[in-house]
Amino acid sequence: MKLFIDSANLDHIREIHGWGILAGVTTNPSLIAKEGGDFLQTVHDICELVRGPVSAEVVAQDVDGMVEEGRLLAKVHEEVVVKVPLIEAGLAATRVLSSEGIKVNVTLCFNATQALYAALAGATYISPFLGRLDDIGASGIDLIEEIVQIYANNPDISTQVLAASIRHPGHLIQSAMAGAHVATVPYKVFKQSVKHPLTDRGNQGFLDDWATVPDRDIVGQVQRWLSSRVV
Ligand code: E4P
Repeated sequence: MKLFIDSANLDHIREIHGWGILAGVTTNPSLIAKEGGDFLQTVHDICELVRGPVSAEVVAQDVDGMVEEGRLLAKVHEEVVVKVPLIEAGLAATRVLSSEGIKVNVTLCFNATQALYAALAGATYISPFLGRLDDIGASGIDLIEEIVQIYANNPDISTQVLAASIRHPGHLIQSAMAGAHVATVPYKVFKQSVKHPLTDRGNQGFLDDWATVPDRDIVGQVQRWLSSRVV
């Protein structure tokens, strides 16, 4: 499973990208509004930084408007994936944009039928929202499992399941186990899930023990060792 970050904050994206595990980014109008910068400049900067798929969402609610916005957003950077909402107009716009070779992430998916429609319309990604389903007492992970199975049953479908609305590290692991192709993860969840108290305690224990060694300079030791072997 690939990992995207769900953010429009360049500092956060840069930090997680620095871990070497990031394959792409998803944004949405709420995340862009929260950062307050210029929309297109932000999208362009993220694309340049990550050099992987970056979802940028249309806000038009009619087919022509979505297609027009989608075509223009795709010109901002070659890494842009046009994000459209899973409404009737969004499916029609997905068909038009995908037939022009523009990658589309169909977002706000809450049932398996919607996911099937998006795939048949040519979506590159389908984004089922785990957290928002859990919030209403449904099971986001059950939906991921259903979509993965439906797509696997239909070899003609190449749409990737992009687990979204991830709220905690458990969602991330459950998505991977359910066979999602991608999970888009908020910065906070990346930071939570990298930490474990036993890692910190073990690391400190190694450092404490190493502090008792007389020559602790590994770089110097290796350089001397290598030069002593040069013939
Ligand atoms: C995905 O593309 C969405 O931007 C995001 O995952 C929504 O998450 P939320 O439900 O936490 O707002």
